[in-house]
Amino acid sequence: MRSIDETMRRAPVIPVVSIGDAEGAPALAAALVAGGLPVIEITLRTPAALPAIEAAAKAQPDAVVGAGTVTNAEELEQVRAAGAQFAVSPGLTESLIAASRDVGLPLLPGVATASEAMRAMEAGFDRLKFFPAESAGGPAGLKGLGGPFPALCFCPTGGVTPENAATYLALDNVVCVGGSWVAPRALIDAGDWAAIERRARAASALSV
Ligand code: 3PG
Repeated sequence: MRSIDETMRRAPVIPVVSIGDAEGAPALAAALVAGGLPVIEITLRTPAALPAIEAAAKAQPDAVVGAGTVTNAEELEQVRAAGAQFAVSPGLTESLIAASRDVGLPLLPGVATASEAMRAMEAGFDRLKFFPAESAGGPAGLKGLGGPFPALCFCPTGGVTPENAATYLALDNVVCVGGSWVAPRALIDAGDWAAIERRARAASALSV
């Protein structure tokens, strides 16, 4: 299984998606792969999320399909069983730390502060989601964490847009960014795969 670092380095942007109907998941994954964004985070925010992870992973072997909004041990086990290749959490708890060891699925936990970063480091994590990026200090806040924690690399998510993505990606401690702008719910619901592919292509051209 590829490490979370390898996954983060596959593309400059990880599309964060919420999907209402798992039947659209293969076409969604195909559009993102065609647009140059093979890493996809399907969030556990809809009942269709688990079947969508399964369908996307089966239909698109070129995609790296992960699960987002994983907040507890049970969900981590469920997404692994559905075929997720990585998991993303908005935060980090003791039970999630224990589960990530037991389940053996690469986890990208979220932090927003220096103390949370230190806790994550104690638990053995050095690849982190900076969340919610814009309200937790934006690029300046994330750059600030680079001073005391040079070994940490981040995927900022939460308020990242086509306008500010390049500013985050220019930081030494940023490997990729995450965001829902590439495949917003409205375009997924409309099945507008061409528009999603166009957005993915533009995002994949951002340089790290
Ligand atoms: C996430 O869970 O990472 C965020 O909801 C994505 O944030 P965005 O919608 O502001 O891109």
